Amino acid sequence: MQKRKVMAIIMATAMSVMCLAGCGGREGSTAPAAEAPAAEAPAAEAPAAEAPAAGGFEADATIGVSLPWLGTQNWKEAETMFTEQLEAKGFKPLVQAADNKVPQQQQQIESMIENGAKVIVVGPIDGTQLGSVLEKAKDAGVSVIGYDRLIENTDGVDGVVQFGSVRTGVMQGQALLDGLKANKGDGPYNVELFGGGPADPNAPNFFKGAMEVLQPEIDAGNIVIVSGQTDFTQCATEDWDNSKAQKRMDSLLAGNYSDKEIDGVLSPNDGIGRAIITACEDAGQPNPVVTGLDAENESVEWVWQGKQYCTVAKPTQDLVAKTIEIIESLQKGKGMPATSVTTNNGKIDVPIYELDPVVVTKDNAKEVFSDDPDRMALLK
Ligand code: BGC
Repeated sequence: MQKRKVMAIIMATAMSVMCLAGCGGREGSTAPAAEAPAAEAPAAEAPAAEAPAAGGFEADATIGVSLPWLGTQNWKEAETMFTEQLEAKGFKPLVQAADNKVPQQQQQIESMIENGAKVIVVGPIDGTQLGSVLEKAKDAGVSVIGYDRLIENTDGVDGVVQFGSVRTGVMQGQALLDGLKANKGDGPYNVELFGGGPADPNAPNFFKGAMEVLQPEIDAGNIVIVSGQTDFTQCATEDWDNSKAQKRMDSLLAGNYSDKEIDGVLSPNDGIGRAIITACEDAGQPNPVVTGLDAENESVEWVWQGKQYCTVAKPTQDLVAKTIEIIESLQKGKGMPATSVTTNNGKIDVPIYELDPVVVTKDNAKEVFSDDPDRMALLK
């Protein structure tokens, strides 16, 4: 064997042993750690046990958290929980929200990089607009974790923690159908459809999931979309703005329901659901079956009172706990934890840490919130 080749083998072997002893490698399914070759490296080449874990960082490092806005309860909860829990773990949290303005979010992330953040957690306003700033983060050695929403068209993301978004939509569609059958007798049912903010990658997925359940019912004539508006683009609510949804509902009712009752409305979240219910009340419509998302306090009360048929709980504490678990793994140099789920974001397969949402109706609310004293207190 040539001398250079022998040296190369020794070097590679030594590096692998160092990695086994120290960094633990990436456990993610998309980037498995390299197989260790036969351990032939001389013992002297192994690092001292107390050497800092390769790829890890200081236990009191700055951690950035960039939230899209604070317009729904889940983001406000995330702001508080990240601040308190990162601090409790000894990190320095830098938590900011961007008021639904993309340039503001880009700039906040930029300053987190400048402030030496080792990890930046990002709930994007627009899944496609963070590519260049996140590539900057990557070049600076910062790990980026997508939070609640996918980050698209960039390789500057290491993983995303979220509730399955198509799955959430399937649950919303199924709950609407169940509610119609339970509360509105036999069909056909008059229904309208709403989607969330089109820049948010969750919104088309919620809609897509719901339509997997509803489209066959529409095709069979069991559900009638009286306005005829069934495309996501027609049904979307710019910026998840409740007042825009209420205006659209007002005009759908005025234009299509002066001589009919509306039986149900697909709503992508609780705020929009309450806006829809208010528009129906104002138009003198008897309480339609309306879905939701987030288990916001006000909607939990409305579900309990029978004003809103259901919500879908996707507990912020679970999302934050999972995210912090990943941050701790990165801090210790253990890399991104393993996951078998990936989603292609237009550029790479992103590891997804997926949690399970739960439909909440009046029937199961006490069971679902048994570990959540704040929401339990609303059920009275
Ligand atoms: C989140 C929802 C939230 C919505 C509007 C979505 O991406 O998943 O929980 O209601 O954004 O803020």
